[in-house]
Amino acid sequence: MSDTTVELTPAAAKLAGLLPQALEIIARYPAGRSRSALLPLLHLVQTDEGFVSPTGVAFCAEVLGINKAQVGAVATFYTMYKRRPTGEYLVSVCTNTLCNTLGGQQVYDELSEHLGVGHDETTADGRITLEHAECLAACDYAPVVTVNYDFAIDEATPEAAVGMVDKLRNGEAVTPSRGARVCSLKEMQLQLAGFAEPRDGAVADGLAGAPTLRGVTLAQEHGIAVADFNPDTPITTTKPAREGKTTPANPAEAAGVASNKPAADAKPAGDSVGNEVKK
Ligand code: FES
Repeated sequence: MSDTTVELTPAAAKLAGLLPQALEIIARYPAGRSRSALLPLLHLVQTDEGFVSPTGVAFCAEVLGINKAQVGAVATFYTMYKRRPTGEYLVSVCTNTLCNTLGGQQVYDELSEHLGVGHDETTADGRITLEHAECLAACDYAPVVTVNYDFAIDEATPEAAVGMVDKLRNGEAVTPSRGARVCSLKEMQLQLAGFAEPRDGAVADGLAGAPTLRGVTLAQEHGIAVADFNPDTPITTTKPAREGKTTPANPAEAAGVASNKPAADAKPAGDSVGNEVKK
């Protein structure tokens, strides 16, 4: 696809400035597979408006040559595509199992009360959108709070979270517990669309921290090891047969799953009802 072939209608023209980057994204995909570019394109439109507006939907549909219903079906499925204007800082508090046990819900509740907004709502000054989130994949630092998807507070407390949002609202610098420095949600969308971020400190990396290594450390301290474990053992793609058991010719069929038959023809593995041997 070339930029000379895309003629935006008035419904999408407001985002014409994104066309060069949109075409760059589409060019990453094989010919005939351009619709696979929809996910990064949706992030791209959020760099401009901060959410996926009807204009953003029209833009994606027109550059990909698909219809708006197809774009809408994807944009409304994933929570990272926002359906209404979102604050400069998206503050996500994990309230999933481990974080909840360690106080995540209390962090969320006190933030909500302090900010005067609930889940997926934005403060009147447009600075903060609050959301409670499912596991943010940092249970070792529970409870965790992210800002624009970067880890901002590890082992969060209500006081730390309230102090952080106050700083953000006042335009003061916030130092995250780890990771890259805090940016705006629109800036983050550019990274999520797959473009290198030119700002200093926009991307960070580092060694695993003590909470992440806690299990290994404890095992070492107590001399716990897996018998006969050899770290150089090659990773195989097939399970070796257990001693005393023979490997079926087709494990999938043995489990009742016929690979080329409709699901209704196959019983899920472990489901014995109706699988009685006929005599
Ligand atoms: S439960 Fe909160 S990060 Fe996993």
